[in-house]
Amino acid sequence: MRASVLSDWLAQRLERGNGQPIYRQLHRLLQQAILSRELPPGSKVPSSRLLAQELGIGRNTVTQVYEQLVLEGYVSSATGRGTFVADSAPDEIVGVPDAPLPQTRPETLPPQAQRALSVRGARLIAGAGVSKRQWGAFMPGVPDVTKFPARVWSRLHNKYWRRLRPDLLTYAPGGGLASLRHALADYLRTSRSVRCTPEQIIITTGIHQSVDLAVRLLSDPGDVIWTEDPCYWGVRSVLHVSGLQSRPIAVDEEGINPSADDLAHPPKLMLVTPSHQYPLGMVMSLARRRMLLEYARQHQCWIIEDDYDSEFRYGSRPLASLQGLDTSGQVIYVGSFGKTLFPGLRIGYLVVPQALAESFATASAELYREGQLLQQAVLAEFIAEGHFTSHIRKMRTLYGQRRQTLLDAAAHRYGDALPAVGGDAGLHLVMQLPEGSDDRLVATAALERNIVVRPLSGYYAQPSLAPSGLLIGYACVPDEEIAPCFDTLADAIDATLVQFA
Ligand SMILES: Cc1ncc(COP(=O)(O)O)c(C=O)c1O
Repeated sequence: MRASVLSDWLAQRLERGNGQPIYRQLHRLLQQAILSRELPPGSKVPSSRLLAQELGIGRNTVTQVYEQLVLEGYVSSATGRGTFVADSAPDEIVGVPDAPLPQTRPETLPPQAQRALSVRGARLIAGAGVSKRQWGAFMPGVPDVTKFPARVWSRLHNKYWRRLRPDLLTYAPGGGLASLRHALADYLRTSRSVRCTPEQIIITTGIHQSVDLAVRLLSDPGDVIWTEDPCYWGVRSVLHVSGLQSRPIAVDEEGINPSADDLAHPPKLMLVTPSHQYPLGMVMSLARRRMLLEYARQHQCWIIEDDYDSEFRYGSRPLASLQGLDTSGQVIYVGSFGKTLFPGLRIGYLVVPQALAESFATASAELYREGQLLQQAVLAEFIAEGHFTSHIRKMRTLYGQRRQTLLDAAAHRYGDALPAVGGDAGLHLVMQLPEGSDDRLVATAALERNIVVRPLSGYYAQPSLAPSGLLIGYACVPDEEIAPCFDTLADAIDATLVQFA
């Protein structure tokens, strides 16, 4: 795009008097133009004087936007020569963590894929965190699917197949099956203190899809989203591929902890795990929850609350949701049956403010053309007959015992030398490794011994600066295998740390 064309392109898109400062609009539009390659790498952008004149805005505004884009790595300026689009867009925007995880991330893409994939597609694949292994000790985040009450489920399933109702075998009406939305509303109100009617519930295929839908409906490419640092790689990929700019926000023992500088730049959205920070495990304090809700209200930002595994809390009752404290309708609550029942079920849900419910239901049907209604009918009855809550109760006891067995095995081998954190809830804990050690090497050494753990550093925006540790999932490991498997893991740790020493 030539300079004069760029001015026209911008002039058509800048909206005066729409409540958004011109500075912010111009910044976002230029980012978009660079990311979409309307402004190709190496091209010269007009001088601030010329652009200000052509757009009829202050030169200071343009200068400030250019300075910001230089800081973010979109453009560079050469004294006397002008300002040029950088050769590659900054990684943070399109989603490549700065160091690859060894066993899951290819060093380079095969040349054919490199040529065929779009920029965002290639970056998604090169930065993918998904593992080829999804079962076995100590796979984090996976429940014990062998304990699922298969007999009850197949009885209900058979009942629906025998009746063969056409309405359960066709496409889903937007939002999912009414009986499941009713059963879920009851469950979420009583167990998670979520304030909702059945109409506010939108059934999806899980949290990944819920976040995707929320982001598509509530933001535009280039908008900023706050994510916790560290955070779950899966939703981070969903956000990046949607073209959002992630701003990683540090967490402390009270949860997400935005700095004064962060607070000075309100995002469009934020994504938080208040009941059980992923992956470190802390609970967001009430003071922090109130602060966040008030900030979101004042700045009209959306908070996506990812409540992925809070049913499993050991030693205290599950904590109430952030959504239950929200009085101004800023929270989008997302949850899943992936941890409570089994991940392959692929059923999750969003709870959205009443005013948005119809739009979300329509968009979900429009974009994803959903089905699985027979499965949803079975699940609704499974919940209504009480099997869901009794399964959760049973599994909570079992996971609590497994967690303790793992803690004992770790203490037996290492004493206090390698402390574990985040084990009060959920399906995994984090074992800290000595500062400066490479947790990716340890994870690779463990995998060679057939043990799956994930390196903590991979969950941070900048893995090379992150603390070293391992995510160890205990939920899917039979009790009697936990201690021997931990010994095998410890052999991998010791072998790697000796090299490190
Ligand atoms: C924090 C967090 N959110 C979401 C998910 C995935 O949820 P779903 O399987 O429903 O897409 C996970 C899976 O491990 C997770 O750890």
